[in-house]
Amino acid sequence: MGSNREAVRRGDVQAASTTLEYTREVADRVDHIYEKMRSVVPQIEWPVFAPEIDEILRLKAERKAVILAHNYQTPEIFHGVADIVGDSLALARRATETDAPVIVQAGVHFMAETSKLLNPEKTVLIPDLGAGCSLAESITPADVRRLREAYPDTPVVTYVNTSAAVKAESDICCTSGNAVRIVESLGADRVIFIPDEYLGKYVATQTDVQIITWKGHCEVHERFTPQELIDYRRAYNDLRIIAHPECPPEVLAEADFVGSTSQMIGFVREEHPGRVLMVTECSMSDNVAAEAPQTEFVRPCNLCPHMKRITLSGIRESLEKLGPEVSVDPAVADSARRAVERMLEVQ
Ligand code: 13P
Ligand code: SF4
Repeated sequence: MGSNREAVRRGDVQAASTTLEYTREVADRVDHIYEKMRSVVPQIEWPVFAPEIDEILRLKAERKAVILAHNYQTPEIFHGVADIVGDSLALARRATETDAPVIVQAGVHFMAETSKLLNPEKTVLIPDLGAGCSLAESITPADVRRLREAYPDTPVVTYVNTSAAVKAESDICCTSGNAVRIVESLGADRVIFIPDEYLGKYVATQTDVQIITWKGHCEVHERFTPQELIDYRRAYNDLRIIAHPECPPEVLAEADFVGSTSQMIGFVREEHPGRVLMVTECSMSDNVAAEAPQTEFVRPCNLCPHMKRITLSGIRESLEKLGPEVSVDPAVADSARRAVERMLEVQ
């Protein structure tokens, strides 16, 4: 990685011209990419995205970088520049498989931290260090220590939507895609499940293990109400409702299917519903709609303000400057990594 940094210092890596233009050459290189997002990105926007995408692809090759993008990223990122897309579990797994010396995380900070934990020797970039998460904000390492005192000899299962410092206080991590499996893998009668209260309550409906929850919530998913789902169902009698388990229990009770973002995408791919409502962050519907023309998406639009801090120009700048870089406090890195790796060992 040092060589990349030296290259920046020497000015070997060509910075983009200050104004990127949609020239004939740019069109020849990247217009084919537009086909992947034609149904969700208006044609009038393409001349703005195309030169950014062209420049990112050039910088990515020069830096030998990969872009890991979460399912909530906007279509021009998700379909335009990402090398690997997925839910938190898939991104964590795929982060262990890449040989690229530079990882750009198109997602929120805890995701980039997980990539760094699993790739301590690589440069992990996040275009905006302020891309946080209300769940990660909801709990501190001291809170976890207090929970352990209150419930002695009870393992701590920590959702990956947390800081590395909180992960370091935990026995094992989980994602929304494997939470039930992880809880049951411990063979305990009772677990402390942090920090998402609603995911914890959902897990409790799927297992006999007693779940002690914390009071963290996702600011995007907690806004959905059962009444809006009931109203949508009344409006469209063929509607399939699929929801993320970060939603409140009364909302999940109205859903036909509950799963992680990738499991929700899998539902659309396998079931080919005529009409679907994805009860989650709204860019997901755009990303899936681009590849599912047979399905009509009903879109209540709840945006994650943190995910939306990641933009094409931010990705381009982070590749140009090799920053901002994500680092993990060495005092917590080994323990946090152990909790993530223990999760990845559970099949
Ligand atoms: P997934 O792991 O299901 O993609 O969820 C991550 C997330 O932040 C959902 O809000
Ligand atoms: Fe965090 Fe919710 Fe945003 Fe996911 S959608 S990153 S849980 S605030």
